[in-house]
Amino acid sequence: MFETLKELPADKILMLMQMFKDDPRSDKIDLGVGVYKNAEGLTPVMRAIKAAEKQLWEAETTKTYTGLAGDPAYGAAMTELVLADAVSAANVAAAATPGGTGAVRQGFDMLKMAKPDVRVFVSDPTWPNHLSILKHLGIETVPYRYFDEETRGVDFDGMMADLAKAQKGDAILLHGCCHNPTGANLTLAQWKEVVALLLKTGATPMIDIAYQGFGDGLEEDAAGTRLVASSVPECLIAASCSKNFGIYRERTGILMAVSADASRKKILQGTLNHLNRQNFSFPPDHGARLVTMVLTDPALRAEWAAELEEVRLSMLSLREQLAAELRRFSGSDRFGFVAQHRGMFSRLGTTPELVERLRTEHGIYMVGDSRLNIAGLNRTTVPILAEAIVKVGI
Ligand code: LMR
Repeated sequence: MFETLKELPADKILMLMQMFKDDPRSDKIDLGVGVYKNAEGLTPVMRAIKAAEKQLWEAETTKTYTGLAGDPAYGAAMTELVLADAVSAANVAAAATPGGTGAVRQGFDMLKMAKPDVRVFVSDPTWPNHLSILKHLGIETVPYRYFDEETRGVDFDGMMADLAKAQKGDAILLHGCCHNPTGANLTLAQWKEVVALLLKTGATPMIDIAYQGFGDGLEEDAAGTRLVASSVPECLIAASCSKNFGIYRERTGILMAVSADASRKKILQGTLNHLNRQNFSFPPDHGARLVTMVLTDPALRAEWAAELEEVRLSMLSLREQLAAELRRFSGSDRFGFVAQHRGMFSRLGTTPELVERLRTEHGIYMVGDSRLNIAGLNRTTVPILAEAIVKVGI
C-alpha cells in the first residue's frame, strides 16, 4: 500500500540546515534555523538549566508516567510565566506538549474538534510549519496582510482590513512576540486595536508565543498575549520553552486554553488531555521538570532571567551593529529596520535569487524568504554579512 505515498516537499528550514552542514567552506555563516548561538557559535546549556539538571539527577527517584497533561506544577509555572496575573488560574486549562510545535499542532487539532470546518487566519508570511500543519490537518487557511515590503514594518492597516473579514467560528493565529519570520511586531496600542477587532468579529484568537524574553524583555514580550487573554471570551495559547530555556531537544511546550467562563475549564482540560492521549499519550517530562524547577526556585529563576537577558541584549547589540555596518556599506539608511525589528529574526525583504547568491558566492545561509537569524552572527561576521548584502545588490 505504501506505493500510494508520494515524495513530500522538504521543509525549507530543515533543508537549509543540511545544506549548511554539507558545505565544506570553513568561513560559511549559518543564519538559517532559529537556534540561539553565542559569540563562539555555540548553543550552550543555560546555567540555571544545568544546575536544575544536577539537582534533578540527585532527587529524581522514578521515571513513571506523569499525568496526561504533564505535571500540574509545570502547567502552573508556565501559566504564571506567560499570563502572570492577567487571568486567574481558575480560567486556564493547560497541557504539556512536545515542544512549541506540539502545542501548535494540538491547538489546531482542538480548533478542528470544536468546529470541523474552522478557518484559520494566518499572517502573510508566517512560520512555514504553521501552514504545513494546517494543510496536514485539512484546515482552511486565510492569509492576512502583515509585512509591509516598503517599510519592513507591520502593515497594520492591511492586517486590520483583512482581519475584519473574520467571523465567529473562525480562528486568528497571532504571534505573541518576535514575529517569525519577519521580526516586525505589533505595538501595545496595536494589540489593543486587535483586541477590539476580536471582540467585534467574535473570532477566536490562537497565540503562538515561542520567543518570550528574546524581544523587549520577559514581561514586555507577553504583554500582547496577556491583553488578549484577559479581554476575550476564549483563546488558545501555544508556548515554547525551546528558545528561552535553551532546551530545544527536550521538546518542552505547553498549550493553554483560556475561558472567561471558569465553569468551562473542566471540559477544556478534558479536551487537552484527550488530544494528548490520542496523539502521543503522556507528554515528555524531563524538560518540563527542569523548567518548573527553574521557575519555582527564586535563585535559579534569577540566574535564568539574568542569562536570558544577556542573550536578548547580545542579539540587540548585533542588530544595532548590523544596521550601522549596512549604513556604512550602503551609504544609506534603508536598512534601519534591522535595528527596529525584535527577536531572533529579521526579514530583509529581497528575492530568493539574491538570497541564493549570498549562499553560493559568500557562504551565507539564510531562509529563501530572506529571513536571517541574528543570533547566527557575531561581531566579526556582522561586517562580512553587511558587505555581502550590499555587494549582491540587496
Ligand atoms: C525556526 O523557525 O527556525 C525554528 O522555529 C525551528 C523550526 O523548527 O523551524
